[in-house]
Amino acid sequence: MTSYRRLGKSGLTVSTVGLGCNNLGRANTATESQEATDAVVNAAIDAGITLFDVADTYGREPGLSETMLGKALGGRRGDVVLATKFGMDAKGANGPDFGARGSRRYIMQAVEASLRRLGTDWIDLYQFHTPDPLTPIDETLAALDTLVRSGKVRYIGHSNRSGWQIAQAEYVARELGTSRFISSQNHYNLLDRRAELEVTPAAEEFGLGVLPYFPLANGLLTGKYSPGHAPEGSRLSHTRTAMVDEADWDQLGKYSVFAKERGLTEIEVAFSWLAAQPSVASVIAGATRPEQVRQNAEAASWTPTPEDLAALDDIFPAVPKVALF
Ligand SMILES: NC(=O)c1ccc[n+]([C@@H]2O[C@H](COP(=O)([O-])OP(=O)(O)OC[C@H]3O[C@@H](n4cnc5c(N)ncnc54)[C@H](OP(=O)(O)O)[C@@H]3O)[C@@H](O)[C@H]2O)c1
Repeated sequence: MTSYRRLGKSGLTVSTVGLGCNNLGRANTATESQEATDAVVNAAIDAGITLFDVADTYGREPGLSETMLGKALGGRRGDVVLATKFGMDAKGANGPDFGARGSRRYIMQAVEASLRRLGTDWIDLYQFHTPDPLTPIDETLAALDTLVRSGKVRYIGHSNRSGWQIAQAEYVARELGTSRFISSQNHYNLLDRRAELEVTPAAEEFGLGVLPYFPLANGLLTGKYSPGHAPEGSRLSHTRTAMVDEADWDQLGKYSVFAKERGLTEIEVAFSWLAAQPSVASVIAGATRPEQVRQNAEAASWTPTPEDLAALDDIFPAVPKVALF
């Protein structure tokens, strides 16, 4: 059974392992069907997972993952924390965006479209998927604040922002007196530690909960891949196949030995390492089968010692901080 934590400094409590929902309705994936989606979502809830992370762009066509997640949750909607996103190219699923997907006009359209697809009256965490270079953050924050005040949205978060953009959003919200972002969703796993340069320090400073995406590096950190081999039906057997060919197998071999020596699975190491980072609130991995969800829900329970963390630093070095002067 997964544990529970506050998302950043907010009162929103989420499971330490969440379910990433970008597989729902994804082509060539087990969860392409509603039946298989229902099985994964039900297994997640039964395993104690409360955080479900989706976006308006996910699925075979934009919006499909939201629609399928909404159906799968059905009467259990009130038992979970539903997180979705706006701000990437939804290809018209939310109506025209004129390229400014942080604008007040677009946000008002996008939220109504997400609510309709999810079949709910409210979104627990509404995340700004990626910065919009056209719209001032003041306008985006004011529009999101309107949604929070109306009750359509309970909390707001952001994603893919750099350190200075995180600081900027925080100070503009303070200046305007609007709702503040409580979470930051960024690419972060043992193989890609760039978030540690600016994002995780900024999140710690401003009390944001980090939701690391690609926690398993698309599955490369599960231990199920080997040089030149991807199990049939696995994500890297049909998408981003070069990741298997280009992987550092010497490094991944050391990782497997590290796990084995401690009686852990590779997934337990990947999840627990992320969960041990002070800014991380919940590890949102995708899953395509109920057994994966059940395994993942238990996978953040190991507490690494300082020696374990140092040994992992040797295998997966942090990105060196570059001196700017
Ligand atoms: N904010 C953003 O810009 C952004 C970008 C990307 C993702 N995200 C979010 O982050 C979430 C997580 O990312 P992700 O799911 O793409 O990447 P991931 O967690 O690195 O990889 C998940 C994939 O690994 C495989 N897997 C998971 N658990 C497994 C297990 N126990 N045993 C064996 N294989 C297992 C599954 O694929 P197969 O079974 O198909 O091999 C699963 O779909 C997404 O669902 C999405 O909500 C956000």
